Amino acid sequence: MAENDFAAIAVDALDEDQARAELARLAALIARADVAYHTEDAPVMSDAAYDAAKRRNSAIEARFPHLKRADSPSDTVGARTAEGFAKVRHAVRMYSLANAFDPADLADFDESVRSFLGLSPEAPLAYTAEPKIDGLSLSLRYERGRLVQAATRGDGTEGENVTANARTIAEIPQRISGAPDVLEVRGEVYMGHDDFAALNARQEAAGQKPFANPRNAAAGSLRQLDPTITAARPLKFFAYAWGEVSAPLADTQIGAIERLARLGFPTNPLTRLCTSRDEMLAQYAAIEAQRATLPYDIDGVVYKVNDLALQARLGFRSTTPRWAIAHKFPAEKAWTWLEGIDIQVGRTGALSPVARLHPVTVGGVVVANATLHNEDYIAGRDANGNPIRGGKDIRIGDWVEVYRAGDVIPKVADVDLTKRPPEAKPFVFPTTCPACGSAAVREPGDSVRRCTGGMACPAQAVEKLKHFVSRGAFDIEGLGAKQVEMFYNDASLPIREPADIFTLEARNATALAKLQNREGWGEKSAQNLFAAINERRHIPLRRVIYALGIRHVGEAAAGLLARHYITWEAFETAMTSATPGTGAAWEELLNIDGVGEVMANSLVTAFHQPAERASIDRLVAELEIEPEALPDTSSSPVAGKTLVFTGTLEKMTRAEAKARAEALGAKVAGSVSARTDLVIAGPGAGSKAKKAAELGIETIDEDEWLALIGEA
Ligand code: IVH
Repeated sequence: MAENDFAAIAVDALDEDQARAELARLAALIARADVAYHTEDAPVMSDAAYDAAKRRNSAIEARFPHLKRADSPSDTVGARTAEGFAKVRHAVRMYSLANAFDPADLADFDESVRSFLGLSPEAPLAYTAEPKIDGLSLSLRYERGRLVQAATRGDGTEGENVTANARTIAEIPQRISGAPDVLEVRGEVYMGHDDFAALNARQEAAGQKPFANPRNAAAGSLRQLDPTITAARPLKFFAYAWGEVSAPLADTQIGAIERLARLGFPTNPLTRLCTSRDEMLAQYAAIEAQRATLPYDIDGVVYKVNDLALQARLGFRSTTPRWAIAHKFPAEKAWTWLEGIDIQVGRTGALSPVARLHPVTVGGVVVANATLHNEDYIAGRDANGNPIRGGKDIRIGDWVEVYRAGDVIPKVADVDLTKRPPEAKPFVFPTTCPACGSAAVREPGDSVRRCTGGMACPAQAVEKLKHFVSRGAFDIEGLGAKQVEMFYNDASLPIREPADIFTLEARNATALAKLQNREGWGEKSAQNLFAAINERRHIPLRRVIYALGIRHVGEAAAGLLARHYITWEAFETAMTSATPGTGAAWEELLNIDGVGEVMANSLVTAFHQPAERASIDRLVAELEIEPEALPDTSSSPVAGKTLVFTGTLEKMTRAEAKARAEALGAKVAGSVSARTDLVIAGPGAGSKAKKAAELGIETIDEDEWLALIGEA
């Protein structure tokens, strides 16, 4: 019986096999309709038929929950917008890597690993060394040996569901045997040099834009809404890591990679085990020497602690593991003419000079802009007034050397004075904002000149909005940097500050009609936009704090603040009542590990600046801010408690103890106060233990601490 023969059977009358077949048919039908609607602009079914198919799918899933497919269309509600793919929440976060640029950075890394683990410089410690592939990372989820889902990294927490596309990559096995029941294999999707050249030749023959480099080609090919396009592009894969696993793959990194190879995954043949820093550097040199002849792009060497038990102890910082580092190859360089210097105004008012260059290819990428940092940098001085580049200034018309290191924005490294045109004059840095004309001032000790126009400066306001909708912040589907700029300049339906995004629909009864008349917006995309905005009214605290765009408060800091204050109300009360330099709220803020005076000042100032504060209040009135979700610490005896470690710990280092306590949901403070719940005091504990005794705070030793957390 063909699959679609069940289409006429009422949901209540379906048996299990029929339901399974129907779910498969509906998933394919809806996926096809999504592609037709969004990428081909040629709908294959009416809205009513589409909705009916989705409802039928949900009804079958409600009756047979265990039959729900990994690629179920009900998980893609509102997500398959014109912008792209359904979102996937990673079961285990996808981390990125910290970078090292020279042997000294590598030595620092090795020392920090040893110091965290309490190992001496001589203690044996092995690392793997392998090429860093220049592609894009992919997580492949296998359940009982079958590939059920493939997802891009996205922001690390949430990626894009590219399952259909990954299935077209020949090197990725669809089925594996002998693997744990649940296995997430992670690695890099890339395009080989020959395939890249052939693809670009085809692109040009078809009158289409060629790709700048193999990485862009790989990313563009994997992130195609139509899997048949991906299938026609030869992508490859190297496995180098894993996410969720129902049983360990091995005891060591190298063992796990060998296991993945046995399961049928391509692994990189240049992977080696190193037992000393010298061996790591030798392997780096060996890989670098082969770089030019490898059939794919690499941009460095990745070192990983080999012992997986040690990896587990080392754990992760907010976005990177403590047990691995990427040692990047030196930047690629090229010489070109500096045609002009533009001044951009950032969200905090910083005036940033940007070099407009005669386009030049640097390491396979065409570079036309480079950062010039600030006025001192242009003048040939560092922040302390000492000469850089031998004191040579940078002038429009100069012959300059530009370089790129990895993903970072190109920079200007040097100037060739012998080629300086005689008419070239020293660059005069503006003292007024080019966007709003307000005075641009440089505070003593600050290398940056800033516009004083605040929210009234259109450049600052637009940049603040762009930051607000960016990935780690509100990340509103369909409302990116381009759209925000368009709305900012729209006289009839403007968005001038974050709160305006949430009043967009209500503010103007005819908003929908207006949007529909606008080029590029159909009824569905306007509705999708409003739906996407409404979806973000519920938002985690850390995202809100980060989205505010307060100077010095990045994603990691926002996470620390959210974890400390838990609710918006507590955070807001603390920021409002804090006075820089004094008082309990200020002390509490500074006591958060990772928050320094500069950040604390910036936070408190933002909440006391009337215009900025009013804008924050208007925003918050539109939102339901979710309290920070603490790690699952239901069985943790220290969840929510504030701990202080003092004295010498003998079984683990202070850093490890702190990381463990935080993973169990505790807060670790640097000093003892009335808010401290527990002090863990090792030998040599001094004033802190004394203060704890005075305040009557419970104090235990290291063994009692280990017993308390079940690690004795
Ligand atoms: S390990 C938890 N190994 O580099 C550690 N990453 O700059 C996960 N990459 O996001 C990463 N080659 O996309 C690892 N041999 C390799 C890699 C590699 C390329 C990518 C990966 C990661 C990025 C960080």
